[in-house]
Amino acid sequence: MVLPIYLYGHPVLRTATREVTPDQENLAELIANMKETMYATDGIGIAAPQVGQSLRLVYIDVDVLKDDMPELAGKNMVLINPEVTVDETVKPVSREEGCLSVPGVHESVSRHEKIHLKWTDENWEQHEEDIEGYLARVVQHECDHLEKTIFVDRISPIRKQLIRNKLNNIVKGRVDCDYRTRGYKPPRK
Ligand code: NI
Repeated sequence: MVLPIYLYGHPVLRTATREVTPDQENLAELIANMKETMYATDGIGIAAPQVGQSLRLVYIDVDVLKDDMPELAGKNMVLINPEVTVDETVKPVSREEGCLSVPGVHESVSRHEKIHLKWTDENWEQHEEDIEGYLARVVQHECDHLEKTIFVDRISPIRKQLIRNKLNNIVKGRVDCDYRTRGYKPPRK
């Protein structure tokens, strides 16, 4: 089932996430729905808070970028309780990013090029791997969502000022995108 994407401004994107445990109810269904939602929205990564679930769960599939970056061919991963360690000795690199929760906004973000990632997969097997380049960026972007961080939090104050109107429109639910979204409706006073 394709789920609505929760938009920038919705409190669920700023809510602490819980570790996923093997007895998590409907986990397989949630993972299947996150995959379906990500493909339906042409995303390359999705984190559980973006579908309204405060869980440490991410799905990434960067295969679609293989024409430009052959090393990404066939790369997809379910990350349960991922832990990222960055290599601080390597100079960060700036590259443009976007986010399903922030439609129409693309901004340059500085990130580490090399990370060490520990995670559990959907079969409850543990993994540990050094990841670099564009995939490292996608992993960091998605894992940021588990820490209540959205990529526009990482852009310069000047750039943030320049996109303020766009962000305010998203907060108000005024978005122009071809997938179902959910904005925040504050309770009436
Ligand atoms: Ni995102």
